[in-house]
Amino acid sequence: MGGAVTSQSTPAGPPLVRAVNAIKEFGSTRVLDGIDLEVHRGEVVCLLGPSGSGKTTFLRLINQMERLTGGRIWVDGELLGVEERGGRLHVRKDRDIARQRARIGMVFQRFNLFPHMTALENVVEAPVHVKRMNPAEARRQGLRLLELVGLAERADYYPSQLSGGQQQRVAIARALAMEPELMLFDEPTSALDPELVGEVLTVMRDLADSGMTMIVVTHEMSFAREVADRVVFMDAGVVVEEGDPEQVLRSPREPRTRAFLDRVRREEQVLEQRAARELEDLGPEPSDPS
Ligand SMILES: Nc1ncnc2c1ncn2[C@@H]1O[C@H](COP(=O)(O)OP(=O)(O)OP(=O)(O)O)[C@@H](O)[C@H]1O
Ligand SMILES: [Mg+2]
Repeated sequence: MGGAVTSQSTPAGPPLVRAVNAIKEFGSTRVLDGIDLEVHRGEVVCLLGPSGSGKTTFLRLINQMERLTGGRIWVDGELLGVEERGGRLHVRKDRDIARQRARIGMVFQRFNLFPHMTALENVVEAPVHVKRMNPAEARRQGLRLLELVGLAERADYYPSQLSGGQQQRVAIARALAMEPELMLFDEPTSALDPELVGEVLTVMRDLADSGMTMIVVTHEMSFAREVADRVVFMDAGVVVEEGDPEQVLRSPREPRTRAFLDRVRREEQVLEQRAARELEDLGPEPSDPS
């Protein structure tokens, strides 16, 4: 079962993330058409939806890599990007936005590590340069985080010397180094070879168990079912359905959710069949001719 608030129907305290009628337009194209969503402390929410439904855009709004064109988002009770003074909204100063962003960690599909820095240097970079943490202390923390993601012995490797799964685990450690109160994951395993997916999901599961608040865009249905406290299905810039993972994944109420899940399952089957055929084609291990 998922994180700390699974069994409570009404989690205590105000939500950590609250989006009300969040709207995003690029030019004349409306990409998010009024998202309402609350995420409570310690909760793990999986975001599902077809390509182009606005999942990444929504995460980017929470992380202020994009600016809202309508509606509001609060994190920990603070309006993102703007503040209310004298009954009017004012755009926050850059430093204030940087402070808000520093409390949120984000892990992308592509690992985005600095190629010229070792794993450890990648992890200590932001704490030292953004948080002004003492370098020796940042190093100690960095090693502890690399150990947490199972990479203590790879601290001095460069990204090019690491597998995709290892790089993604370094990226998670790097995000955690800023001690975020919220972690956003955007399809963190979809660029990985199938055999490397599990190690990254294990790290994410541990993180969820430790009580981290997480919003995870993923097509990994078993992860959503086992780890998420709630599943949110988006389509065409709106939340179509949300609820308990068992309910949404097994017996979705909305036809659009059902159609999407059927499609994902069919794709999974095709991939599994292809992998099985490839294994067969390889045949038994050739014996050493020498
Ligand atoms: N900077 C941008 N300028 C214009 N349109 C954009 C921009 N970013 C995203 N879009 C559009 O917004 C829509 C939603 O994109 P988004 O990346 O949020 O979808 P998604 O649900 O994450 O899809 P996927 O599953 O493929 O990652 C798409 O139609 C996309 O083309
Ligand atoms: Mg996306």
